[in-house]
Amino acid sequence: MSEIESIRSKFIQFYEKRGHIRIPSSSLLPENDASTLFTSSGMQPLLPYFLGTPHPQGQRICDSQCCFRAVDIEEVGDNRHTTFFEMLGNWSFGDYFKREQIEQVFTLFTDVMGLDPARLYVTVFAGDQTLGLSRDDEAIATWQQVFATKGIEAKIGERIFTYGPEKNWWSRSGRPEQMPAGEPGGSDSEVFYDFGPQLQLHEHSPYRDQPCHPNCDCGRFIEIGNSVFMQFQKTHEGKFVDLPAKNVDYGGGLERLAMARAQTPDIFQTEVFAPVIKVLEQKSQQKYSQLKEADKRAWRIIADHTRSSIFLMSEGLVPSNKEQGYVLRRLLRRSLVQLRRLDLDFALLVELVAPVVAQYESEYPRLRTQEATIVAGIKRESQKFAATLRQGLREINKLTQITGEKAFFLYESYGFPFELTREIAAERGIEVDEQAFLAAKKHHQELSKTQSAGKFRGGLADHEVQTVRFHTASHLLLAALRKLIDPTITQKGSNITGERARFDFTLARALTSEEIAALQKQVNDWITADLPVTRKEMPKADALALVGGSVFADRYPDQVSVYQIGQDTSCEICVGPHVTHTGEIGPIKITKQQSAGSGVRRLYLYPASATA
Ligand code: ALA
Repeated sequence: MSEIESIRSKFIQFYEKRGHIRIPSSSLLPENDASTLFTSSGMQPLLPYFLGTPHPQGQRICDSQCCFRAVDIEEVGDNRHTTFFEMLGNWSFGDYFKREQIEQVFTLFTDVMGLDPARLYVTVFAGDQTLGLSRDDEAIATWQQVFATKGIEAKIGERIFTYGPEKNWWSRSGRPEQMPAGEPGGSDSEVFYDFGPQLQLHEHSPYRDQPCHPNCDCGRFIEIGNSVFMQFQKTHEGKFVDLPAKNVDYGGGLERLAMARAQTPDIFQTEVFAPVIKVLEQKSQQKYSQLKEADKRAWRIIADHTRSSIFLMSEGLVPSNKEQGYVLRRLLRRSLVQLRRLDLDFALLVELVAPVVAQYESEYPRLRTQEATIVAGIKRESQKFAATLRQGLREINKLTQITGEKAFFLYESYGFPFELTREIAAERGIEVDEQAFLAAKKHHQELSKTQSAGKFRGGLADHEVQTVRFHTASHLLLAALRKLIDPTITQKGSNITGERARFDFTLARALTSEEIAALQKQVNDWITADLPVTRKEMPKADALALVGGSVFADRYPDQVSVYQIGQDTSCEICVGPHVTHTGEIGPIKITKQQSAGSGVRRLYLYPASATA
């Protein structure tokens, strides 16, 4: 049995003995969840069971869930970040709570996984006044008792560290203030493994001359598990109320346990990546341990991104320019860029497929059945990118100077990462202005946002009843924003499905939960008032005068239609369709505020009855 299989089965058996039922890993590509592109934690596919639906397998569940975190793409290259990982998880849905969870996690790490308790450090919730929650003394007392069983006096500030909600709180959307209404969350307690002071004392460590602690990021302390005490749900008013039950949501990276067991602070030197690193060593005739820092980083990117791509492609994902497919394309292209940097052949990438498949097929047989498709997909993408590079290089060779705009053009048209352009330019003694590149990129993003807003203005392709209701509701939301928040707010885009409307608008700050509640009330009041919605055709100039101008003016035909709601509630140039009376919309709720780029906020509208 490999080390990975051994860790996985030790974990599962431990929890099965304690009455947990093992469930299979859900897909990396979430089903029935449009809110997120990838499964990024073990609890994500289990959301309904925190909200009160009984789990068909009972109150005690465990699994090993494949996870992908796109937010970590740029972090990959250090000693510990990976985009794909297996999250070992155990759950109590209203069964045991804090004390039993902390006791069993401690037993798992020490007696089952064989970790030295003296190397374990924990963090606990410090409490928070605005949330009305006090310090988690129960967790502290329990940790002190379990450490004492191993002869360790666990003092606060030495072995147990307390942090506020910025560190010791968990929900799918992060800190309490980031959570949308309806979202469950709670305080948590994390366990860290101490790999020793040599990392803190590393010449590049920012903590070289400062005391380092579990939550610093020098790489010395690495989180190996997190027990979330899921007991709250956020309300529309921004308050926290009790969930139907007190739940435990535990998750810990299998790969992190492999690091701790091997006492290797570099995840790429554990068994997890050994088969991939071996191929790279053979092909490059170099030893990983003897690489220069920059080359090591390149190997890590290749190893991580290719492994993630293989898992994503085993689920049927193909590289594309949209959403999940675009993330996959980036992973593959980032790996190819690194291969080029190392002067290694693009064909090397497919050679990494077989070792990864062999390593994981017993647990994930889909890897074997999809192997040929994965290989073909990687080959195709490598060829496409090679052609792109050739074209781009021809383009660059014509230039005597590379401006930020030109670098952006290469990026946009040929998929040239900025680093690559900079490198090629440097070979020819030319400098490229990164700030100007970033500015051009930002400008382009704003432009495409405006274009998608234009698409919405042109009317909805889909005339389903619910999308029509949401369309009218979006006009009401814009009117409410202008009335209650700022009369200069304009729409920056929207996306409407049968389930919800997503609405982007200009505002340079986050809305408070009180403001969101007020907006929701205003929209619902207008809906309840059953205001008539009327449509008038008129020349563009008249229409613009009526609605007070528009940033989309030059996109309109000469004759436009104007939709008016009530006497003066809302007046917009729009193709429609809309309901005839606002009462048809039915009560709505506003959830999930997000940022949608600089100076742009995003809100979601759902029917009030929706569970999302
Ligand atoms: N859901 C928790 C996490 O992802 C355990 O850290």
